[in-house]
Order: sequence, then C-alpha cells, then structure tokens
Amino acid sequence: MTTPSHARISKAVIPAAGLGTRFLPATKATPKEMLPVVDKPAIQYVVEEAAAAGLSDVLMVTGRNKRPLEDHFDRNYELEEALHRKGDGSRLAKVQESSDLATIHYVRQGDPRGLGHAVLCAAPHVGDQPFAVLLGDDLIDPRDPLLRRMIEVQEQHGGSVIALMEVDPASIHLYGCAAAAPTGDDDVVTVSDLVEKPEPGEAPSNLAIIGRYVLDPAVFEVLRKTDPGRGGEIQLTDALQALAADTGLGGPVHGVIFKGRRYDTGDRGDYLRAIVRLACEREDLGPDFRAWLRSYVTEEM
Ligand code: UTP
Repeated sequence: MTTPSHARISKAVIPAAGLGTRFLPATKATPKEMLPVVDKPAIQYVVEEAAAAGLSDVLMVTGRNKRPLEDHFDRNYELEEALHRKGDGSRLAKVQESSDLATIHYVRQGDPRGLGHAVLCAAPHVGDQPFAVLLGDDLIDPRDPLLRRMIEVQEQHGGSVIALMEVDPASIHLYGCAAAAPTGDDDVVTVSDLVEKPEPGEAPSNLAIIGRYVLDPAVFEVLRKTDPGRGGEIQLTDALQALAADTGLGGPVHGVIFKGRRYDTGDRGDYLRAIVRLACEREDLGPDFRAWLRSYVTEEM
C-alpha cells in the first residue's frame, strides 16, 4: 500500500511508441505523432501544452521510429546557420522554438505492448512523484486549457485524475468509459469504475476517457501486476480501474470533464478536421484558406 502523494507535479510523460496502424502507409517509417497539423508536428502541440502547464521535464516513450522525434526537439545547427546567413529571423525562431520548449528525455518501449506498458517504461524516470501523461496523438486546443485544471484537482484531492469528455452514447465503445459520481465542483467527478471499450449496452455512462492523466506513482505497482487485457495489450484503463476500486492503493481517482476542443490526430477524419479548423483560425493562413474553403464547399460539393 502506498500513501497518496501530494507532492508538486513537474514531470510529463508522453507515450509515442504506438504503431499508428490507422494511419498506414504514412506511419510506416514515420511516427504518427510527427504528422503535421498545419505546419507543426502534432507532438509539438502536446509538448507546448505540457510546458504551458508548468511541466518542463518531459519524458517521451518512443518506439522503433524514434529518430524523427529526437531530431525535431534537438538543435539543427546546419539549418539554423543557413537561415541566419539569409537573415530569415522569423523562420530561424520557428526552428529554434521546438528545441527550447522543455528538457526532453527519451526511453524506448521496445515492444509496443500497450499504453499501460508504455507508462510503466517511465517508472525509473518518474520515481515516486505524481506525474502527468499526455498522449502524443491527442491534441487539446491551447485555448481550452485542461491539464492545469487537472493538476489543481490532483493537488486538492491527491490520488489520480483522468480527463473525461461526454460523447454520443453510440460511439462510447470506441473509448475507455467511466462510472462517475458528482462532487461539489461542476467539472469534477469521483470515478468508481472504468471499462476499456465497452460492448454496446454495457457502458456505465457516456463519459469517455481522453488522452490526459495526472497519476499517482502507485499506478506503476499496479501496472506491474496488470495482465494484458483487451487486444492483448497492457491497458492503462485496467490499472486505473484497480486504483478506482481500491483507494487504499494510491488514493482516489477523480475525473475532470472537458468541454473544449480536442482532436485525435491518430484518426484520419479527426486529423483532417484539426487541420481545417486550426488553419481557418490562423491569422496568417486563415483569410485566404477560409475564402477558398467557402467557395469549395458552395461550388464544388
Ligand atoms: P493508440 O491506441 O491510439 O495508438 O494509443 P496506436 O496503437 O499507435 O494506434 P493504431 O490504433 O495502431 O492506429 C494511444 C497512445 O499511446 C501510445 C501511442 O503512441 C499513442 O500516443 N502507445 C500505444 C504507446 O506509446 N505504446 C503502445 O504500446 C501503445
């Protein structure tokens, strides 16, 4: 039994070792987290989000195609020098931005045995402090901050905090699903049970788990004992279910209900929606792109 931890959160773990099979062939040799959303790889938005929430120590869990990820967050002296010589300060700043965001560490998952296994690979780096997990293919609009609120809730209650979003009951079978009870805060629930991708009719609610977590380090102990679940993978949801069922293990599990904009960039449809929406809203690209989109929709569809 572990004492629920109330220590300050400073570390973020970003699992990015999945196979990305929904996005083949693009992901044959490139991690899906490197696919561009407008002009930045999806994962840069995620690291920016961690940094904006005050988490400047980031551990990326990578897989066989880790090189592009490491290169993206490293300095590129040759390119920087070329842009410097050309006097192209604005592009130089864009190149340097990704290497200045946070201190990034890497650990290799080896065999992608599921999200729970990816999180377990972070145990030696994280130690015995609570920590955040941000899925590398899940994009939360920076204007709708979620992680900061989750950290606040963890600091208030201890234990672990998951992010939940209300979805159409017809699509809850695509997600992990939470059984939850209200608390005094409108956006916070107490989680009593979790089911990964429930069969139709067996979902305890329409509250879907999305890719942000603030976890008590007790989760590692539970993950070590968690057998492969759905799809033969070690599921993070199964470990969280154990924490929710027995608060003596690592404190309670709370959920923060998120009502903002979120995109699953590992899903082709959502990826396209993210690009169109973010491009439309950009000051530099938006005016031209919106005009083109309007005429495309009215004249050609
Ligand atoms: P997904 O289930 O969306 O990733 O995992 P996937 O397996 O790459 O996707 P598809 O279904 O084959 O297209 C959610 C997150 O967990 C990471 C993924 O990289 C993604 O960010 N993950 C998943 C790992 O790091 N390791 C794993 O073994 C599995």
